[in-house]
Amino acid sequence: MRTHDLSPLHTIDLIRKKRDGGALDPREISFLVSGAAAGTIPLEQLSAWLMAAWLRGLSLDETRSLTLAMRDSGEKFDPSRLGKTAVDKHSTGGVGDKTSFLVAPIAAACGLAVPMISGRALGHTGGTLDKLESIPGYRTALSLSEFETVLAHCGASIVSQTPTLVPADRVLYALRDRTGTVESPGLICASILSKKLAAGLDALVLDVKTGTGAFLRKREDAEYLAALMVATAEAAGTRTVALLTDMGQPLGRAAGNWIELVESVDLLRNQRPPESPSSNHDLRELSLILAGWMIHLGGKSATPEQGRQLAEAALEDGSALAIFFKMIEAQGGDSSVFADPSAFHKPGATQVLTTWQSGFIGEMDTTKIGWAVQRTGAGREKAGEPVDPHAGIEFHARRGARVEQGQPIATIYATTAAMLSEPVELLQQAIVITGEPPEPVELVSRIFTHENAEAHIRDAVR
Ligand code: URA
Repeated sequence: MRTHDLSPLHTIDLIRKKRDGGALDPREISFLVSGAAAGTIPLEQLSAWLMAAWLRGLSLDETRSLTLAMRDSGEKFDPSRLGKTAVDKHSTGGVGDKTSFLVAPIAAACGLAVPMISGRALGHTGGTLDKLESIPGYRTALSLSEFETVLAHCGASIVSQTPTLVPADRVLYALRDRTGTVESPGLICASILSKKLAAGLDALVLDVKTGTGAFLRKREDAEYLAALMVATAEAAGTRTVALLTDMGQPLGRAAGNWIELVESVDLLRNQRPPESPSSNHDLRELSLILAGWMIHLGGKSATPEQGRQLAEAALEDGSALAIFFKMIEAQGGDSSVFADPSAFHKPGATQVLTTWQSGFIGEMDTTKIGWAVQRTGAGREKAGEPVDPHAGIEFHARRGARVEQGQPIATIYATTAAMLSEPVELLQQAIVITGEPPEPVELVSRIFTHENAEAHIRDAVR
């Protein structure tokens, strides 16, 4: 070991080094991360370092060191006792994105363990935990030993982050939120992956959104983040793939809380309208593609295409549905509410939005649509506020659909009648009706694996 590796470190030196464009080594990054988790480095110094990292960017090596130091900052989950390969899927966030409710039970039905640590609504996007909590009794805050028990019993469990898992991210994420340093590829990558890797995953499938509803609107930013996450997770020993997928319109037909679960269970029950511009074919298709990759990376199929076939079989024979209901019951939820989903759905106020002119649904500003969904009461204004399980928006026409003036295009479910007008206005601004149909957009436009991720990062930096 070189002697300077043993010299004492000082936060001010590390801030100045990053500020001046230098790269921090693993020991220096560990020093900052353990100081953040232990509360021994003042928040103003951490904030200054975050801003320097945001402005200067983090190299691939720095991103790897930061991810590992954050992963190791607290308790970790060890899935090895389950005796199965542990796989997960993570999405960078979207509107109507409910694929977790399909892919987790499908992959479990194919013999994998799916320890899924999920999040809440963030900005204009919905949160898996908020949706699950619309099931009466469903507990998302399990201890790691309860998590293991549910996984052993059902093969899948969807829970919230425990207080002791990746404590460094709690501190750094809250600071990033307050200091304008969220949108940094290296910081986002380390934040997401540290939590995923702390769950002890053997394999991970990343769904990186592009289009009008994505957090990273610029395609090259989404591609860079996807490649960075693949290269970082692979270097940490987790087989990883990232799919760039379309978020230029809500995924499926429902966006909200309970209504998204109903749509997912309909698909798990094989109930779906015939393929048409208003069906939720995209949700079913994306879920099967993602699950196919989970099954392939988890070693249960020779190719992702074969994985997709296994996924479709698990969807069609009811085994994924049985696992989903078993998981709900194991986490304290009452799955009998799915016997008559519309009887359980009790929105405070409902309004049907009709088309204001004839033509084609040409464009959907999905970030604006996401805000419309949140304003129905389905999302929260401030952290910690409750959400309305019954609120949300159901779409009756999708991008490319031919519509006639006066035709219903959406049904809005709000907490109160006074909360209907803002979502209506936002939808009218977000949905553009055109004379010509729009160009079709590919559901999956690019895939990064260990084979092409590092080269993409090198070329992007050049
Ligand atoms: N989600 C996370 O967990 N972290 C980020 O930095 C961004 C999204």
